[in-house]
Formats: sequence, C-alpha cells, structure tokens
Amino acid sequence: MKIKSFKGGYDDNFSYLIWDEITLDGAIVDPSVSPDFIFDFITLNNIRLSKILITHTHMDHIVYLGDFLDRYPSLSIYAYLNTRQKFQGDFIGINHNDQISLGNSIFTALYTPGHYDDCICYWNSQDGIIFTGDTVFVGRSGRTINSYSSISQLFDSIYNIILKLPKETIIYPGHDYGPSPTITISKNIELSLFFSAKSEQEFISIMKDFELNR
Ligand SMILES: [Fe+2]
Repeated sequence: MKIKSFKGGYDDNFSYLIWDEITLDGAIVDPSVSPDFIFDFITLNNIRLSKILITHTHMDHIVYLGDFLDRYPSLSIYAYLNTRQKFQGDFIGINHNDQISLGNSIFTALYTPGHYDDCICYWNSQDGIIFTGDTVFVGRSGRTINSYSSISQLFDSIYNIILKLPKETIIYPGHDYGPSPTITISKNIELSLFFSAKSEQEFISIMKDFELNR
C-alpha cells in the first residue's frame, strides 16, 4: 500500500491518496485539499481512483468532494452510516468493524465518536497504519467544543479503541498540527499527556487546560 499526503485546505488539512502498487486501485482519505495536484499525480501514476473514505463530515474535510465526483463520476463514497451530512451518488454507509478492500489491502472502519458523532478511523492492520481524521493528531486529540462533540466519548474512542491497536501503528491525522506529519502510537503516548491520562477525569482536565491556554 502506497500513501501520498497532500497538505492545504482550510487549516493545514491533510488529504491522503492511497493505492495498491500492484493493482493500482486507489482511494482518497478526505477530499480536504484543492485537488489539481492530486488529479495530476493520479494520472501520472496510472492510479484507478475508485473510493473516497471520509473520516467525518465537518465541512473542511469534504469541501472538495464535488470536484472529485466531477472528475471521477463513478467514485464510491464511504462514511459512517449515520452521517450528519448526507451525500448524493454512490454512498456506502459503514459501521464499526466493517471492512473495505482496496486492491489487495483491507481497511477496518473504527467508529470513534467524540470530536464529532460521525467520526470513523480507517485502520490497515497488515501495513500498520491508521487514518485518524480529527480524533487523534500528532501531539494531541481533536477538540470537543462543537455540537455533537463529547469528551467522554472521545476518551472512550481514544483509550479503548485507538490506543489498544498495536503500538507501532503509524497515525496519519487529518491536520498537520504536531512536530511531525505522522507518528507511531507509542511515540504519541511518549510525546503527549493527551494519550497518557490515567483516568477519564484526568483526560478531561488535560483537555480543559488545553482549551484555556490555547
Ligand atoms: Fe473536525
């Protein structure tokens, strides 16, 4: 599985192009970055784009979806089955533990509400990678200040789902907010208090301190 990241969009967003080197089947994780360079890259590398995987439906993560559909009208759109934002076209609603194939690779959808209530992470256990959207960044977690956010759900999603994955799993976040674009789960735990809380109460106070001091 190959990964090419593109940065831009509303706020240092990352859009990822992922593809199978053998079959050249490709997908975009979050159409959040102006796609002209992405289209050129896809054409140059003969990638057959077939899927869009959406981590959650905050507008900055889906803003260029229409451009992708104009260019590749048969794309399938994957997102949480009960999204806040509804999609036209070939929409495939997914739930926790659903599997999505891309060439010879398999992604497992992990339902991780908290930052928003339609957050999905896409985990490829074979390659040891996960696309975490706004649930986990390098150095901190996503914020829970908007509607349909929940600190308690975020704690559960991070501590009982993401941090339970193999520690060498590489995180590909939805924004470039940390000292590096990606990081392993184990290094993120070393780097950040957000991922080493001993209890939900401690996590909530770390989140509150962050909001007060930002
Ligand atoms: Fe978001």
